[in-house]
Amino acid sequence: ELGGYEDFMLKEIHEQPAALQATLAGRLDAGGRVDLSELGLDLSGIERVVIVACGTAYHAGLLGKSALERLARVPVEVAVASEYRYGDPVGDEGTLVVAISQSGETTDTLAAIEAARAFGARVLAVTNTQGSLITREADAVLLTKAGPEVGVAATKTFLTQVAALYLLALGVAGVRGARPAGELEEIGRALRRSPEKVEEGIELLGERLMSEAVGVFAGARCALFLGRGQSFPVALEGALKLKEISYLPAEGYPAGEMKHGPIALVDEQCPVVAILGEGTLREKTLSNVEETVARGARVIAVANEGDAAAERIAQSVLPVPTVPEILSPLVSAVPLQFLAYHVAKARGLDVDKPRNLAKSVTVE
Ligand code: F6R
Repeated sequence: ELGGYEDFMLKEIHEQPAALQATLAGRLDAGGRVDLSELGLDLSGIERVVIVACGTAYHAGLLGKSALERLARVPVEVAVASEYRYGDPVGDEGTLVVAISQSGETTDTLAAIEAARAFGARVLAVTNTQGSLITREADAVLLTKAGPEVGVAATKTFLTQVAALYLLALGVAGVRGARPAGELEEIGRALRRSPEKVEEGIELLGERLMSEAVGVFAGARCALFLGRGQSFPVALEGALKLKEISYLPAEGYPAGEMKHGPIALVDEQCPVVAILGEGTLREKTLSNVEETVARGARVIAVANEGDAAAERIAQSVLPVPTVPEILSPLVSAVPLQFLAYHVAKARGLDVDKPRNLAKSVTVE
């Protein structure tokens, strides 16, 4: 079953290009046009979107928010399901609730759906499990086609959730005419090429680069993951992966928040993992990271190949291929999965079955 890999997590990280491909197939044509008619939902009547999920799926939801708001110009709220269910939520029939759950069995996410039903919301489930409870509770299902995920830490299901949300954002943007069709199709074509880009990214991360990055973690007692914009949810996900399987305390923070508290954590034993991203935010993140370097931080940067500024400030650079900015999480999440994996392996831990965790959380 492991197909020559040492663990399921490693196998599943490597399966990501194929998982993405399967999730996009039949929903995105060669011209970059999205077809979500399988949902049977009227996407034009959506006034507001609420995304509910837990854990890694919540991080995918944060990325879905930014894509939906940027491309489709609909307001989006993202909530942790265990909070949303008890929050007396507000909404009406114009609200589309998108519930994201790999297993489709997470109790809190199912209860969040029920809470939204009370105000008449329509519900779209994004799940990897056909026939799961969530598929019965939802009005429509957008299936991620990652295939079974055995490792407790979600990897390929995360990437396919993000891709599914990009499809949704492009689909809603198209029917609303929120952006010129040509612009949406260009992003669609790039999304179609994302499996190759993820593959290219995996190949860029040779053993030497990974062991250099793991070396930065020697003697570490915690870690800070920093990013801005779309790289912030990626930072949260990187921190979650690391804490789940290596048991190191790790925090994901918007880089601009550092000086409001967390920079007090910084010293040689608290590495900073910076997801630089692109565009104007890259510059801003770089200057936040420089402030941590001045306080003794050792830095791992996730940056485009050949980023000279990243090479200058970081002990270790994990390169990612260049993609349109809006799709950058698909490539920048992958080095963080490898990083968590190798740090945990270096500590002799069982990456597939981390302590205290279950693959699906069917109790409150
Ligand atoms: C983290 C992880 C969990 C799940 C969360 C939700 O690696 O796997 O945080 O993402 O328990 O699970 P699902 O998506 O099945 O609802």
